[in-house]
Amino acid sequence: MSLLDLAPVIPVVVIEDAETAVPIARALVAGGLPVIEVTLRTKAAREAIARIAAEVPEANVGAGTIRTTDDIAASIAAGARFLVSPGTTLSLVEALDSSGVPYLPGAATVTEVMALAERGIKELKFFPAEAAGGVPYLKAMNGPLPDVRFCPTGGIRPATAPDYLALPNVGCVGGTWLTPADALAAGDWGRVEKLASEAAALR
Ligand code: 3PG
Repeated sequence: MSLLDLAPVIPVVVIEDAETAVPIARALVAGGLPVIEVTLRTKAAREAIARIAAEVPEANVGAGTIRTTDDIAASIAAGARFLVSPGTTLSLVEALDSSGVPYLPGAATVTEVMALAERGIKELKFFPAEAAGGVPYLKAMNGPLPDVRFCPTGGIRPATAPDYLALPNVGCVGGTWLTPADALAAGDWGRVEKLASEAAALR
């Protein structure tokens, strides 16, 4: 099954303390969001992925902010089951292609989308969604490129997510709003679960 069809929202999680990885993942899964993207933006990210992969098997944990071939190797070694990149260079797409796991390469323009579609890659992350044109941009791309589907991410909030999810070329959306930094710092897993269950009900 496609990564885009597993849940309406992929939580993008910034984990500063690997100790919090397992309770965060459990709260997201309990709320109904089984696909979790841990960004490589923090030092704790790889350890967080490893802990979730080992201790929360019902979560489908992946790595986000993939920028290099080293990021790919380290993420898969840690246990990442999918990869997400903010943008896509030629060398990165070749490495993603041979990684052996599902991936969502980032694209923000019609030309970038066409370059990936030419290689047969038709499920992409649209990033940074709001800044790059948001719902009207995605709607416009669906005319000439109806065979390409997206997970828009970047600036999406609970109030705007339904407008994205209503588009025929959007499978799911991504965002950090499910795991607010203050909730994670306070260990407020109940709040994370509640945000996840509200997001899971979006479709
Ligand atoms: C990402 O890395 O996918 C984005 O930074 C998430 O954007 P958001 O914080 O606006 O949801």
